[in-house]
Amino acid sequence: MIRVLSVASECVPLVKTGGLADVVGALPAALKGAGVEMRVLLPGYPAVLAALEGSEVLEEVDAFGGRLRLLAGRAAGLDLLVLEAPHLYDRPGGPYLDPQGRDWADNDARFAALSWTGARIGAQGAGGWMPDVLHGHDWQAGLMPVYLKDAGHDRPTVLTVHNIAFHGLTAAARMGALRLPAWAFHPDGFEFYGQISALKAGLVHAWRITAVSPTFARELATPEHGAGLDGVIRSRGGDVRGILNGIDTASWDPMNDPAISGFKSPNGKAANRSALMAECGLVEAGGPLAVVVSRLSDQKGLDLLLAALPAFLAQGGQLALLGSGDRRLEHAWLAAAEAHPGQVSVKIGYDEALSHRFYAGADAVLVPSRFEPCGLTQMYGLRYGAIPVVARTGGLADTVIHANAAALTAGCATGLVHDPQSVPALEEALRQLCALHAQPAAFRQLQKNAMKHKVGWEASAPLYAALYARLADSHATEKA
Ligand code: ADP
Ligand code: GLC
Repeated sequence: MIRVLSVASECVPLVKTGGLADVVGALPAALKGAGVEMRVLLPGYPAVLAALEGSEVLEEVDAFGGRLRLLAGRAAGLDLLVLEAPHLYDRPGGPYLDPQGRDWADNDARFAALSWTGARIGAQGAGGWMPDVLHGHDWQAGLMPVYLKDAGHDRPTVLTVHNIAFHGLTAAARMGALRLPAWAFHPDGFEFYGQISALKAGLVHAWRITAVSPTFARELATPEHGAGLDGVIRSRGGDVRGILNGIDTASWDPMNDPAISGFKSPNGKAANRSALMAECGLVEAGGPLAVVVSRLSDQKGLDLLLAALPAFLAQGGQLALLGSGDRRLEHAWLAAAEAHPGQVSVKIGYDEALSHRFYAGADAVLVPSRFEPCGLTQMYGLRYGAIPVVARTGGLADTVIHANAAALTAGCATGLVHDPQSVPALEEALRQLCALHAQPAAFRQLQKNAMKHKVGWEASAPLYAALYARLADSHATEKA
């Protein structure tokens, strides 16, 4: 068994703002069969502490402006290490934002403390458990390899990039407060235009970097998608690779999902569709029922979808959106629902159970993202027979097979893929969706193909396991 410490700021089902949480929560079970024992280090948010069972205190230390206590325990079937630090995490609101939707002013220290604790576990273990590899996720764990190196330890580290748009930037004046070493503050270290970049720290200092899809891994090396860090990515050469996310097929199982009804019967989709239409106040117009389940942010291209909406509705299409985020987009979507009663339904908020009903009831899931490192909603769509209509970017391009004539004939098409960032391209994809939906036999075949497509971790879990094994081996060889 290879022991791996996974370090992250979210984890399903305890705390989630997006797909990062799904992946961090699914990896331990997915990797178990591949010979990996994974424990997850999380911040002690109120929801995490409340869920923790049989916890024991492993260590107490004063750092980052208060007392840090490292707890070990289990929650929701996961082996957890939890950093209890009330001055950093005992707050209302989300993991990153206060109840008014503003970033917590001390987010740099909140996640530096998490990274520092991860490095400490890498150096001295936790209650006798010593990880062979440390695996951090996104900028919140980016500083971990620096702390580890600074302490003179050479335990292998992996950083996974789920989103390059968030760098974890903070002022250089914070070096002392964050316990960061001066030796690493330079352009080939974690300095980024005069500031500290936690993400760059990880990209420079982690032994290996993974990106959450092969296409995203290639995109990261380009100025267009590298968010200013493409040079760093290129400089790491073969240390960077894409490993496609999977989904947890046990909690996302249309045949056995307590949040929905009726998928066991042959017309399960129809029953869930009618229920969703009624729940959303939509009136049958003959065309496809499309859904969006998404953070409302510039990344997701939902402003483009607003522009493409009238043409889609004119062809009998209907749309239900579940999302929250950017206030401007929330208002624009609420206005669209008001302008098209019975055709467009918008629910602002975050609702896990409702999201299951959305995928189960939909004919199509729309993901018109400007960029999408992997994307999970198109995979939930595939699994629940909701045809993904996606932009050709990142993991969307890697998970959906476009329904061109050849792919339809070959029986391998699973959705519609269009070129991103253009309203006409999106309109054309939605036109194709309506045309396919108007041919019931062809559409049913597409749904069958989609539901058969493998979206679990079976392909990717062995890739992570092999990566950890190589790193653990090379570490052992170096030590010998
Ligand atoms: P990202 O991580 O960029 O937000 P992903 O597609 O990887 O995008 O993951 C989004 C996850 O969050 C999915 O599990 C999706 O179902 C969920 N989600 C997004 N918005 C909502 C919402 N308003 N209510 C419920 N679930 C949501
Ligand atoms: C990020 C990305 C998303 C990806 C998720 C999980 O939030 O935006 O594309 O699926 O992480 O890796």
